Amino acid sequence: MIRTENLTKLYQRNTGCSWFHRDIDETVAVDHISLHIKKGEIYGLLGPNGAGKTTLVKMLSTLILPTSGTASVNGYDIIAEPKQVRTSIGLSTGHERSFYFRLSGEQNLEFFGTLSGMKGKILKERTDELLKRVGLYEERKVKFMKYSDGMRKKLSLARALLVDSPVYLFDEPTGGIDPVSAKVIRETIQELSLEGKTVLLTTHDMLEAEELCDRIGILNKGKLIREGTPLALQREIEGKKIVIELQGSPPRAFFSEIENLDYVSRVAVGNPYLEILCEGQADAINEVVRTISTFGVRIKSINVKHPSLEEVFTELTREQ
Ligand SMILES: Nc1ncnc2c1ncn2[C@@H]1O[C@H](COP(=O)(O)OP(=O)(O)OP(=O)(O)O)[C@@H](O)[C@H]1O
Ligand SMILES: [Mg+2]
Repeated sequence: MIRTENLTKLYQRNTGCSWFHRDIDETVAVDHISLHIKKGEIYGLLGPNGAGKTTLVKMLSTLILPTSGTASVNGYDIIAEPKQVRTSIGLSTGHERSFYFRLSGEQNLEFFGTLSGMKGKILKERTDELLKRVGLYEERKVKFMKYSDGMRKKLSLARALLVDSPVYLFDEPTGGIDPVSAKVIRETIQELSLEGKTVLLTTHDMLEAEELCDRIGILNKGKLIREGTPLALQREIEGKKIVIELQGSPPRAFFSEIENLDYVSRVAVGNPYLEILCEGQADAINEVVRTISTFGVRIKSINVKHPSLEEVFTELTREQ
């Protein structure tokens, strides 16, 4: 549904010039990115500020041209068939300047709906439904210029959802939006995916990415440094943590025995908890439990913790 091949965007900016030379500042915002997002998939782009997420979304939505590489959306080439690409997507970017400031939220939606060929009762019902869904119904008669940042973002999402499209591109759909409305927006995105729509979103919210996305791509300095399901990314970081609650105090030799096990890299002793960092999860748990039982120590509880997506993200972007 969305396919990119070595997609690259180089921004060039004049930083000064004289008769003899010109200073040009170059930024490779998106650097040879190749990805394939399947139909019905929710794909999340994560990355630090300036990683290139918005630039990628802008290229896919034909707002800017790539410097090199190719991409297609819904089977249409973003350079050769921009019109078809635009009619295939619902787009919501973070900074909306395209609304009419003197029109109300409702009038804005009606205007864009009319442009897309909707009219009459169908248009009215659709705008009402969307204004309710994003939590703007009460403020529907208020002029856009009086909307807060969050309200503007909500209207931009409502506009993206106005027309039924096979592909949706959302740049930080819940950034700056209150928690209750953000939850509704996440649910709406999930519904889109259940209807078979393809969604590409960017977010800084790791829990949102974990909860919502089928796959995640981590961008850093324009490069796609990792890609996978949230769980696969979490498993990538070595050192799973096993937290064991013991009954009674084991002898001193017990701790060194556990520390010497092959899979175990570190043991932190608390009372009554024992924290064990290890690799090769299933084998490690079996070996640890077997060793504990040879000492006749009883286990009250055992818990295996994966690193959070936030820990994975921090680790991977720091590595770079
Ligand atoms: N119009 C522009 N002209 C020059 N450089 C730009 C322009 N837009 C973005 N950049 C640069 O391109 C890089 C990527 O920016 P981009 O906005 O795509 O990042 P982002 O991942 O969306 O960041 P954020 O999380 O802050 O939204 C940054 O270094 C940025 O300074
Ligand atoms: Mg951005």
